[in-house]
Amino acid sequence: MTSDIEPFHAIAISRLAHALKAEGRSIIHMEFGQPSTGAPAAAIATAHHVLDSDGLGYWESPALKARLARHYLETYGVTVAPEQFILTCGASPALLLALISSFEPGARIAMARPGYVAYRNTVKALRQIPVEIPCDASVRFQLTAAALAAIEPAPEGVIIASPANPTGTIIEAGELEAIAAVCRARGIRIISDEIYHGLSYVEPARSMLEFAPDALVVSSFSKYFSMVGWRLGWLLASPEHLEKARTYVGNLFLTAPSLSQHAGLVALDCDDELQGHVAVYARNRQLLLDALPRLGLTSIAPPDGAFYIYADIGHLTDNSLEFCQTLLRDTGVATAPGLDFDPVEGLRFIRFSFAVSTAEVEDAIERLAAWFTT
Ligand SMILES: Cc1ncc(COP(=O)(O)O)c(C=O)c1O
Repeated sequence: MTSDIEPFHAIAISRLAHALKAEGRSIIHMEFGQPSTGAPAAAIATAHHVLDSDGLGYWESPALKARLARHYLETYGVTVAPEQFILTCGASPALLLALISSFEPGARIAMARPGYVAYRNTVKALRQIPVEIPCDASVRFQLTAAALAAIEPAPEGVIIASPANPTGTIIEAGELEAIAAVCRARGIRIISDEIYHGLSYVEPARSMLEFAPDALVVSSFSKYFSMVGWRLGWLLASPEHLEKARTYVGNLFLTAPSLSQHAGLVALDCDDELQGHVAVYARNRQLLLDALPRLGLTSIAPPDGAFYIYADIGHLTDNSLEFCQTLLRDTGVATAPGLDFDPVEGLRFIRFSFAVSTAEVEDAIERLAAWFTT
């Protein structure tokens, strides 16, 4: 059945990691893309205060929507109305909303392979059809305008991710503009997942809205804002699409957590603290980029953003899942198998998440060095 979806194998790795930890082993968690830091201090202080003073009913914060609109203007020079934001429990429901409100069952949705596991699986769960475009190191694992132009017949939709998971690569402005032009010409609706914005080590990522004002943008507080468990995100919909998306959100999800909305509003003004996390990730990224080639992992597209390195281990294994399990058992370093991101080529890739402390990255490198060189 097209709606059959595969498990997220990194969860099995994580389960094993926790079992080993319970046996007393020292584990370094590089399998999930979640910051090890908590929410910004001021956001936490606000949450404490709100808990004592607010009934926390169903609620959509007008102040948060207005602040998000200002964020788009200041960051990308894009003018959007506060009403265009639909607040969600993270980017995951926002992606579901974007897909279900845009496409009928049977619609073909293009996406890069490798790509975030939930793109393929959410599309399938909605009985839409993933059209996976193989994207290798020569295109830095990213969709291109040329690849989109070559799909026959034209898909109804495309999911763009920049910076991407699992590779952290960014699509540069000229290519985003070319992708927008191809989509306009071929009638392809764009869903742009911008969840890793704010986390870049080269040029800042540009929003698809700068090039395609009718794109649907999905984002959240989980990554840059370090608020994974607060479950807060948004769908930024064009005015024409808004009512349809609202109808779905009212029926499927109602509102996002009120407490998180109060805290999220404050987090949007915590750049000083959050930039401190980015500096740690930048250091971790460089340590890994320096170390991995010494371990024989030379086929890597250096990540421009996010907090991942996707490494080719094809010279060592043809089963990334087993490889991750053995690596974890032998070294205590938990990584994600490429199989999660690419059902075809992913058996020869693993993904390292460097959203951990620099001390943990240094420790991981030592353990990996000993393991890879024996
Ligand atoms: C590319 C991408 N999009 C969306 C999500 C979902 O994030 P959340 O639902 O926590 O906002 C993730 C989570 O790792 C992701 O990597």
